[in-house]
Amino acid sequence: MIPSGKKQQAEQQTEGQDSEQQQKKVHPRKPKQDKPPENDQGIWRMNRRNAFTFAGWLAFLGFVATATVGFLRYLFPRVLFEPPTAFRAGRPDDYVIGEVDTRWMDQYRVWVVRTRTGIYALNAVCTHLGCTPRWLDTEGQFKCPCHGSGFTREGVNFEGPAPRPLERLHITLENGLIVIDRGIRYREELGQWADPGAFLEYA
Ligand code: FES
Repeated sequence: MIPSGKKQQAEQQTEGQDSEQQQKKVHPRKPKQDKPPENDQGIWRMNRRNAFTFAGWLAFLGFVATATVGFLRYLFPRVLFEPPTAFRAGRPDDYVIGEVDTRWMDQYRVWVVRTRTGIYALNAVCTHLGCTPRWLDTEGQFKCPCHGSGFTREGVNFEGPAPRPLERLHITLENGLIVIDRGIRYREELGQWADPGAFLEYA
């Protein structure tokens, strides 16, 4: 038998628990949220001060990148390094009188022709549209495969659409060696084949 005092106390406890449970059902407690402290300086927290700092760094990095690119361009300027236009073509006696020599064709696109009185160099570029003619030894002429232009051994056009003779190249003798410069050209129709550099006298 439970004493009446304790019984009353137990009933009060049960009632208290019931009312607490009812309160929970009516006003369920919200889970606690982890609020960051007010002075939290997390790196991804963007306030106005951080935004200014971020913009400052961005500007600084942009400046550094621009300066680096400028410096590299200063070190490597846009200069076109072309191979030299002049080359040594051996001794005059390396060439046979009356023959068109084709040894420099692949490398320099140049024919060397020796006559009884001297040597001249022809630019192997067709004056029609720039194709490379061929020397036909049996026919004694240069023939362009593109549109059929023909040139004599001297380089004069005689058939096909080529409007003018082949160009001759600057030729000199330096220390017993022939030097041909493809950067200096002589045109027959301008009377330039008579210029000193267009023909190397050698007997
Ligand atoms: S390019 Fe030589 S004939 Fe046309």
